[in-house]
Amino acid sequence: MNPFNLSDKRILITGASGGLGGAIAKEAAKLGAKIVITGRNIEKLTDVFGTLDGDGHAMVVADLSTKEGRDKLIKELPTLHGAVFSTGISQIKPVRFLEQDDIDLNFTAGFNAPVLLTAQLLAKKKLISKESSLLYISSISIKYPFVGGSMYIAVKAALEGFTRALALELAPKKIRVNCIAPAFVKGPMLDQTQAATNEETIKQIEARQPLGLGDPTDVANTALFYLSDASRWVSGTSLILGGG
Ligand SMILES: NC(=O)c1ccc[n+]([C@@H]2O[C@H](COP(=O)([O-])OP(=O)(O)OC[C@H]3O[C@@H](n4cnc5c(N)ncnc54)[C@H](OP(=O)(O)O)[C@@H]3O)[C@@H](O)[C@H]2O)c1
Repeated sequence: MNPFNLSDKRILITGASGGLGGAIAKEAAKLGAKIVITGRNIEKLTDVFGTLDGDGHAMVVADLSTKEGRDKLIKELPTLHGAVFSTGISQIKPVRFLEQDDIDLNFTAGFNAPVLLTAQLLAKKKLISKESSLLYISSISIKYPFVGGSMYIAVKAALEGFTRALALELAPKKIRVNCIAPAFVKGPMLDQTQAATNEETIKQIEARQPLGLGDPTDVANTALFYLSDASRWVSGTSLILGGG
């Protein structure tokens, strides 16, 4: 039996209308997983759904920053072998301009949504106890920050703290909890950063990644390891995908 095989594993992927979530969904389906994808944007979600190999997949449009959205998703979910939490927003703002709304905006989508969804998955017994896997997308920026990223980085640091405690809590059930912390990857989030800064900033980012900017597939392939039985002894970690 190939420990990397995802045949018949049922996996939830949030933020699947986005660059990384979409790539993870596509690669996981190639390895035989049955995927539930969720996001807010129906067009983008439908596009991703159309790329999934195999059958038995599902798609749920939901705003996970609201209780209604999370309830709707939970109601439609089968029992899962794993979940990837890839929702997030990227806001670049110097601290002197921060207001309460900025804190709320960043934490609601990037922290509250995955944390409260996790709580509901557990409370509603949506995870198969034996060897299921929860994977959260953090960011290398909690170790190597960028100017203007204080809220984004605070969210990811909070998420990593949460996952370390959760890993301990779920170890008796053999449920694994890990983070991956990518550097900049090509896609909408990088485009937004480029729009909010300038060409020079992007060049500086590239210079800090000797292997270059990542591709969403590079992140997806790492996620597959965490979703598969090959990682059955790995929990409470955060792996930096830093392009060197
Ligand atoms: N791209 C990078 O370079 C990079 C590097 C390090 C870490 N990350 C992290 O990786 C994750 C995914 O990034 P990405 O590049 O795929 O970003 P993206 O393309 O902007 O996708 C973000 C996803 O989050 C979803 N989302 C945001 N708010 C939501 C809400 N309230 N309810 C439901 N879904 C919501 C979006 O859904 P809709 O579009 O449907 O609204 C979209 O699917 C993020 O957590 C990001 O911080 C990205």
